Amino acid sequence: MSKRVREAMLRYMNDWEQHANAGWRHGKWLELEDSITHKLGQVLRADPKDIGIAASLSTGMHSLMATFYKPNEKRNKIIMLSSEFTSDILVSQSWIETHKLDPNALLLADVSDKIPTVATSNVVKLIEENKETVSIVAMSLVSSHFSHYYDLDQIRQACKKYGILLFIDLAHSLGCVPINITELDVDAAYMSSSKYMNSGPGCVGAIYINPRHTGVKPGLRGWFGTDRAVLTMQNP
Ligand SMILES: Cc1ncc(COP(=O)(O)O)c(C=O)c1O
Repeated sequence: MSKRVREAMLRYMNDWEQHANAGWRHGKWLELEDSITHKLGQVLRADPKDIGIAASLSTGMHSLMATFYKPNEKRNKIIMLSSEFTSDILVSQSWIETHKLDPNALLLADVSDKIPTVATSNVVKLIEENKETVSIVAMSLVSSHFSHYYDLDQIRQACKKYGILLFIDLAHSLGCVPINITELDVDAAYMSSSKYMNSGPGCVGAIYINPRHTGVKPGLRGWFGTDRAVLTMQNP
């Protein structure tokens, strides 16, 4: 644990002790999101306004699914990787269930081959085979099993060609490999600070949404995802 973390935690604990609920105003706790998104924007090479701090990676992914997964008769499948983290798979399954769809709407691309080009071509092949019915491809940027990159350019091109959204999981890459999310040009990303960002208990996750989707109504609305000016007006 970095020594500065202890000092910062104690500063916030003291503020809380002295100001209790008024700390939200005194300590500008709500505005903390701005300084964190600014820093995270530098790591991701993204505009901070396109980043939101979420409770955990999974809750961020849930928000994105609630917002963007709008299955219809024709397009309702989600493609993920066979090696994907179980909790990501559970998130997708829960939205497939929420929409009362067949569990087979979740397709897993075989990425068991150690060679990244083979794994990538299996993902592209699955997209091609289901090009008319897939709604979202949701996958990790790097393989958690073999620590290699997938060729995201190829996957993104296939998604764009068929009008499929591309989401990426940055849990195993944030703070570990260089990321330029603007150049990656994915539709959305979800991440966590628990691994290479070395955060401890109470660590936060985050989401990124490509600015081309600015204005899309959040599927799960609350404090976050609402214009702060509106919130302040309603909670003077
Ligand atoms: C690839 C990946 N996805 C999802 C998660 C779950 O993250 P969280 O507990 O923040 O929801 C993790 C956590 O280790 C992970 O490594």
